[in-house]
Amino acid sequence: MRRGSIASLLGIGVVAGGIAAAVALALPWLPTPASREASRIDFEFWFVVTICIVIFALVAAAILYSVVAFRAAPDDDSDGPPIHGHTGLEIAWTIVPTLLVTAIGISSAIVLSNDDALGKNVLRIDVTAQQFAWTFSYPDANGLTSATLMLPKDRSVQLRFTSKDVIHSFWVPEFGQKQDTVPGLHPTLHITPDRLGTYPVICTELCGLGHATMRTRAIVMTPAAFDKWLRSQTKATGSPNAGQAGKAVFTNNGCAACHTLAAAGASGKVGPDLDKLGTYAKQAGQSLQDFVRTSIVSPNAYVEKGYPKGVMPQTFGTSIPKQQLDALVTYLTTNGST
Ligand code: CUA
Repeated sequence: MRRGSIASLLGIGVVAGGIAAAVALALPWLPTPASREASRIDFEFWFVVTICIVIFALVAAAILYSVVAFRAAPDDDSDGPPIHGHTGLEIAWTIVPTLLVTAIGISSAIVLSNDDALGKNVLRIDVTAQQFAWTFSYPDANGLTSATLMLPKDRSVQLRFTSKDVIHSFWVPEFGQKQDTVPGLHPTLHITPDRLGTYPVICTELCGLGHATMRTRAIVMTPAAFDKWLRSQTKATGSPNAGQAGKAVFTNNGCAACHTLAAAGASGKVGPDLDKLGTYAKQAGQSLQDFVRTSIVSPNAYVEKGYPKGVMPQTFGTSIPKQQLDALVTYLTTNGST
């Protein structure tokens, strides 16, 4: 091979690789990781992308060079010379990909096993998915439930999933992993958050009409702030003062996202206005107490005119501890009675 050809091949390869690398680096393909697991996955991603860019540069160089160097003259209708395969080349293009794919396989296996390895002092959280809401419960804090996923920074967290109805999928882009929730199974997911902040929790499996609204937030806090939150919420929801406990249950479970209730500073418009519970109970012909309890435990029993059936999470009332349900009923009957 002539010196000039090698120089042209190298030149084209460097330009093609440079363009591919620029496209890979200039666009924000992935969110900044907020967990150790996501950082490892990002490493693996870039490892594979780097290999791809090198291969792309080699192929682009060979093709572009051939197109120019071996172009037939305009009036040349002759066939090319008969050729036979190049054994050395065939061995090379078998061995090199084998080595690369094996390297990707081994490094991926290491990343997966590191990501699954629980750390010390694991925080366990039960995640319930249902059309169309997420509920997070903390078994070590008397089953405290929350509609927002509160997490301490730098602590190993194991999420355990339950689906009440259909297949949903838990996804926080910054945590870099997805987990399907399948009815009848209880898959787990390990996360070690390592960046403070608020991140979206998204359902990424088409699960029904309200799929697009099945979102909440994950908040990564300092361990001290997390312990303080856990203590204050456990105290509030377990408070003998039903008003205080009920308000905590109302706030923790995200009721304010859909309902209006002046006493809680809530102004959601998706569901019925809870300041008018007294009027609704009269329309339904029930006592206020019974009406409120039934509406939480089996939301489809009576649906206020103008609101669609099946939007209120169907199993919310049966999935929170009874003492919290009682507190919520008391809270709503005393504050939403007009
Ligand atoms: Cu749940 Cu989509």
